[in-house]
Amino acid sequence: MTSTQEIFQEPEKKIGEVVLEVKDLRTYLYTKWGITKAVDGLNFHVREGETLGIVGESGCGKSMTALSLLRLAPKPAARTVSGQIILDGEDILERPESDMRFIRGQKISMILQDPMTSLNPVYTVGNQMVEALGLYYKDEGSKDIKGRAVDILRRMGVAAPERRVLDYPHQMSGGMKQRVVGAMAISGTPRVLICDEPTTALDVTIQAQYLRLLKQVQADTGVAIIFITHDMGVIAKMCDRVMVMYAGKIVETGDVRPLFKNPSHPYTKALMASVPSMDESHVEKLYSIEGQPPALFDLPVGCRFANRCEFADEKCVAEYPPTFADEDGHTADCWRLEGQWKRVAEATA
Ligand SMILES: Nc1ncnc2c1ncn2[C@@H]1O[C@H](COP(=O)(O)OP(=O)(O)O)[C@@H](O)[C@H]1O
Ligand SMILES: [Mg+2]
Repeated sequence: MTSTQEIFQEPEKKIGEVVLEVKDLRTYLYTKWGITKAVDGLNFHVREGETLGIVGESGCGKSMTALSLLRLAPKPAARTVSGQIILDGEDILERPESDMRFIRGQKISMILQDPMTSLNPVYTVGNQMVEALGLYYKDEGSKDIKGRAVDILRRMGVAAPERRVLDYPHQMSGGMKQRVVGAMAISGTPRVLICDEPTTALDVTIQAQYLRLLKQVQADTGVAIIFITHDMGVIAKMCDRVMVMYAGKIVETGDVRPLFKNPSHPYTKALMASVPSMDESHVEKLYSIEGQPPALFDLPVGCRFANRCEFADEKCVAEYPPTFADEDGHTADCWRLEGQWKRVAEATA
């Protein structure tokens, strides 16, 4: 079992095979204003033991992407209209809805921002975990399942878990509740764990502890993590690779270090400039990106960032850029890279 001492050391990284591959995923919301293209042609993959970040401003489609991967986008408004979600070699969009009960939790699982959307206030934490675990360990007796619940809580850094299982959610702090939600999310030993802004509601010290715990769980289990945040600082701490999302599309991808060193889409540069610096002299000058992203039900034909981009010209306004890549697989959708990087995919806007 993991002691507190061990948690504070950076665990060793082992990145393996691709576990999840997403191709041309599109989830549209059919509203009275029109068709909101919240997820508009995403292509990406994640490997065993790898943490892939998704970063972007509020409303760009991050949560809708996460929900689409679990086939939980809100019905009837939302519909995944195209694409493939290949998990362990199988497209889960082809599976009947009844199979999703087992795929969710055991193959792919999610931790949400607000723990109370995942916890039931009228049951003890232990009862909720035993019920969830009972789905996966049908042949085990209730005593064994309770033992598993206690072990998983301990793994998520819950002290005295044999006593905490008797608590109701309201008897726990925010950080503790989020650990319980994390424990429930990993209890089915999923291959992919999606964390949608899991630390946004926590204070800074608790946030850092939580991120370390997730890394330790990943080192112990090899789970692939998709980590969603609006905070570039959290991406730097947590992720191996990152995708920058803007208005329903991925505009830049790359390994974290080279991407931070050389952000290549003007939107990524702007996002990075809006991270507060540790240097006190910069705190006052926190940069925010001028203007608004386009409405997802009324998208321009050209680059979606063009109206806020200091470099935009007529071509950017007229035509969505293709994807360009450098030799290390760093990609960006920006016309300014034409001639510098290789064109790897045509525009799909
Ligand atoms: N239930 C819903 N009905 C209609 N539109 C929605 C619904 N949920 C989200 N949206 C819209 O979908 C877009 C993407 O939202 P979301 O994925 O939640 O963004 P993010 O997580 O990046 O903040 C937004 O424009 C939002 O207004
Ligand atoms: Mg969200």
